[in-house]
Amino acid sequence: MNSYEGKTFNINTYGCQMNVHESEKIRGILLSLGMEEIDNPIDANVVVFNTCCIREGAEDRAYNNIMALKPEKAKDKNKILILCGCMPQQKKGKYNLKDKLSFVDIIIGTHNINMLAQYLLRFAMNHQPIYEIVEKPTGNMDTDLCVRDDKINAYVNIIYGCNKFCTYCIVPYVRGREKSRPFHDIYEEVKDLVQNKGYKFITLLGQNVNSYGKDLSEPMTFAELLQNLCKIEGDFKIKFMTSHPMDFGDDIIKVMKTEEKVAKALHLPVQSGSSPILKRMNRHYDVKQYMSIIKKVKHAVPNISLSTDIIVGFPGETESDFNKTLKLLKKVKYDQVFAFMYSKRSGTPAAEFEDQVDEKEKNIRVNKLLRLQKIIQKDQTKKYFKKVFNCLIKQINGVSVGITDGGKEIYIPNYKFVNENYFANVRVEDIRNHKLSGVIYGKR
Ligand code: SAH
Ligand code: SF4
Ligand code: F3S
Repeated sequence: MNSYEGKTFNINTYGCQMNVHESEKIRGILLSLGMEEIDNPIDANVVVFNTCCIREGAEDRAYNNIMALKPEKAKDKNKILILCGCMPQQKKGKYNLKDKLSFVDIIIGTHNINMLAQYLLRFAMNHQPIYEIVEKPTGNMDTDLCVRDDKINAYVNIIYGCNKFCTYCIVPYVRGREKSRPFHDIYEEVKDLVQNKGYKFITLLGQNVNSYGKDLSEPMTFAELLQNLCKIEGDFKIKFMTSHPMDFGDDIIKVMKTEEKVAKALHLPVQSGSSPILKRMNRHYDVKQYMSIIKKVKHAVPNISLSTDIIVGFPGETESDFNKTLKLLKKVKYDQVFAFMYSKRSGTPAAEFEDQVDEKEKNIRVNKLLRLQKIIQKDQTKKYFKKVFNCLIKQINGVSVGITDGGKEIYIPNYKFVNENYFANVRVEDIRNHKLSGVIYGKR
């Protein structure tokens, strides 16, 4: 029996899939202390903020939401507030958290989230605020105490940290250097998720998954990892994010083509369509090299679903650079684009670049880009006509639906299935108002 038994908790997550998955581990840790999860931070005995600092907006959101709980904490001294993740791990963040958030009981970073139970037990003993930001991982970041949000798609870490140091990005400073998880651990986790827990999609996570295995005592490439995981018996597919174009070799394309279990979807951030800007971003590839990968991928895996990240208004980006990004979007025809206005991150090289782009201009550019992408995306629906996609079959509002690897829904009218969640081929027969419908087209 510990003092947390029977108490309630609430978790607020900001940022990328990595954080979403870390919050699943935090949930596991808190449940193991005998606590119960609730939706409302106002009522919860313990409130966790697992934060992000990739852009200023992410910091503002988390900061304002923690601040909103200050009066609650004043009313209920026994309420425990926890701040963790990337925001407190920064050397020089936007807010001076130690001073401004002195009402928060436990502040830790990204490298010691796995120690949360120990911190909570220590706090219960002496009620002294804990402020512990460490520079290197504390023990093993993997834990069996992980309770996932989703029943179909499971996130699995394969590599932590990032060595790339793109000049705009804070991640290498708050997540440390690349560290691959041993193959055996990944294999066992995926096997358990597929064979014992019924997961249909496994999403391998890393800031740069393509760097997997270089640092292991028994090195293994990312392509080999994919191949080895495909040997696990079961009806499932593997997704992965995020890939870096520089490390995206032909071996990965080959595995995507040949392995049935590798999802036919790829998120390949380009960031900009202008080579001089890519150079200033320290991305290690130019537009020509990026386009050559896209060409090869499209050739090897026809109908692949492609997505990307774009930064608009990077320091020095001219109208002409920006137009090159628009041109690239028209050429590639992504199924989805995530566009961000450049946000200065202190401590990163680009924050010191002199030719910063005006906020208003960034806003105009990002809206222009999103408008263009909307048109491209609408037009893209045409490419689905009469094509066959291997889909996960589900029931949504009483209708059978096939979900493609890229997440697109194909309605299958008049089709009754015996049980949910299996893969089958679906052929698109009709497109109305950009909504797809089709028929089952043989079994996988
Ligand atoms: N490791 C992944 C994800 C990084 S963060 C990758 O390399 O792709 C996700 C996206 O946020 C990046 O791809 C980039 O487009 C965007 N981003 C990162 N830093 C940014 C900044 N300072 N301002 C605006 N967008 C940024
Ligand atoms: Fe950031 Fe670049 Fe690393 Fe991605 S690859 S996390 S954008 S430094
Ligand atoms: Fe944000 Fe940290 Fe992810 S800064 S994007 S939560 S690695």
